[in-house]
Amino acid sequence: MPLSPPISSPTLPPTTQLRIELADRSYDIQIGCGLLDHPDAVACGARSSEALIVTNTTVAPLYAARLQHALAKHHARVCTIALPDGEAHKDFETLNLIFDRLLGDGFDRKAVVYALGGGVIGDMTGFAAACYMRGVAYVQVPTTLLAQVDSSVGGKTAINHPAGKNMIGAFYQPLRVIADLDTLDTLPDREISAGLAEVIKYGPIADDDFLGWIEQHIDALRARDKAALAHAVRRSCEIKAWVVGQDERESGLRAILNFGHTFGHAIEAGLGFGAWLHGEAVGCGMVMAAELSVRCGLIDATYAARIARLIERAGLPTRGPRLGAARYLELMRIDKKSESGQIRFVLIDAPGQASLHHADDALVAQVIDANTV
Ligand code: NAD
Ligand code: GLY
Repeated sequence: MPLSPPISSPTLPPTTQLRIELADRSYDIQIGCGLLDHPDAVACGARSSEALIVTNTTVAPLYAARLQHALAKHHARVCTIALPDGEAHKDFETLNLIFDRLLGDGFDRKAVVYALGGGVIGDMTGFAAACYMRGVAYVQVPTTLLAQVDSSVGGKTAINHPAGKNMIGAFYQPLRVIADLDTLDTLPDREISAGLAEVIKYGPIADDDFLGWIEQHIDALRARDKAALAHAVRRSCEIKAWVVGQDERESGLRAILNFGHTFGHAIEAGLGFGAWLHGEAVGCGMVMAAELSVRCGLIDATYAARIARLIERAGLPTRGPRLGAARYLELMRIDKKSESGQIRFVLIDAPGQASLHHADDALVAQVIDANTV
């Protein structure tokens, strides 16, 4: 087993391909510009006459026709469904609209489903694909920075339950990931910042040099410099591929990808899904988790301050909403990492290294009180 994720060169050719190695579930991630318009770039290799593009009402007018046109070379029938937009719609009702369409239009088990959109569409479409006729093939076509660096890769699919984030779902790997960097041109600034939270995450958990690179390029990333974005997406996917390749179903190592997420999911559920963007909640959650790492004696305060400063420079909130420590603790107990009601946090052990830890409620409450307004 390698000790650290392999490193790529920061100078990037226009299109690059990475591979997630998962035995018979291995697949490629394609990263480049202008991919959506090229039939060869969007080919998924499946021998299927039928495809359904699942997208939402925001992304459909921007990109669905282009993808549909490119896919027409590979499938005799390509249909599109545009779901309502937003985290608040990542639920059973919206999921069922996908099944209604698949069944209503007579899609059989050889159908290929394309998830065109951000993490909400990707997670929901992946889960629909995992369930429909006990599993059909799907392809991730992520169009947000967050989805390109994280959610489209690794096969976690889910919907929310009112009691907790991503509580109903399945591990189900896509056939392929096609990340067209040009789609980031139309993303609102707030969504770029949200995506940067998940990019920053990879530094403290796996690659301290990458954290330094992000610090140097944060303004270029916010300004959507294509070379900077290409490197950020590629390095993030490399690290994620390295982690998922070792621990697909999160029996251990994969949990590090949840740095900041325990606090973050509590913010999202506590305020109601959609009030804060997922990336905003994760960014703020990383500030809290870094401070908890300091209070547990794992890292020094200067490293935590460095992480907090970068999150602030990414345009993300660093203080959580004041829901009260008791409410945070209650929400955090409903977490997939909890064991017998005991919360487990991803904490930083050293720069570029993280693992799961228990922490005293009193210590956690101190962190919450000091970091909420
Ligand atoms: P999102 O899917 O809600 O997309 C953000 C917004 O951007 C939406 O309004 C969307 O319509 C819009 N949008 C998407 N692409 C666009 C484009 N190119 N131009 C203009 N607007 C565009 O949010 P997200 O941040 O992409 O994803 C967050 C979700 O991902 C959360 O539900 C989170 O739980 C999930 N997630 C999953 C994993 C995983 O491993 N499966 C990892 C991280 C996050
Ligand atoms: N985003 C967390 C994971 O994929 O495991």
